[in-house]
Amino acid sequence: MKQIDEAKLQSDLGYRFAYVTEFIGLNEKDIQVIHGAAEVIGPLVPGMVDAVYDKLHTYSSTWRFFVPRQAGYEGEIPATAEELTPDHPQIAFRKQHLRRYLERLVTAPYDDKMVAYLDRVGQIHTASVGNPQIDIPLVEMNALMGFVADAINATIIGLDIPTEAKFDAIRAFNKLLWVQNDLIARHYAR
Ligand code: HEM
Repeated sequence: MKQIDEAKLQSDLGYRFAYVTEFIGLNEKDIQVIHGAAEVIGPLVPGMVDAVYDKLHTYSSTWRFFVPRQAGYEGEIPATAEELTPDHPQIAFRKQHLRRYLERLVTAPYDDKMVAYLDRVGQIHTASVGNPQIDIPLVEMNALMGFVADAINATIIGLDIPTEAKFDAIRAFNKLLWVQNDLIARHYAR
């Protein structure tokens, strides 16, 4: 039996990431599969980002969080959720970040810098960093993670690659998203 330092899981991000990836079974081969998918998934990222924002625009419970000023955005901001259209510059700004996130998932090495980035993506959705008005409830984070996971599966299924490669890619991305999920959920544990 492996001895796990449970206090360290809470205090040391690298230790936690290593533990969760090993537990889930996200291994070197999976990372190679994810990086190998960059060429085919890269061009599909803008379409996936549009689909995500169409989904977020569908519900008052998600769209309202895009009304307050977003960290790093300096343009004009909308007064109300009704005034905030999907082609507003603040949404274009947000889409750019999500695009970069998805591109990084398939290109970046999974080193300390990347782990810190994945963790920051989780944390930015809570009031503890960025705009304190932007405090996304966990139900919305989970719902969108489910939507993104399904969108990635559907994208992979639609690729013109051998069936075996599709299965490998689906498993690799599924494991990766569960690791990201941990780096979201940990910021909600009170
Ligand atoms: C699948 C789950 C999600 C992922 C992967 C994701 C990804 C991201 C990324 C990459 C950023 C930019 C972080 C940065 O570079 O600083 C961000 C910020 C943001 N996300 Fe998400 N997001 C998710 C869920 C949600 C949901 C469900 C909402 C709204 C209901 C939301 C609203 C926001 C807002 C408002 C910001 C800006 C925060 C600020 O400016 O302080 N996100 N997200």
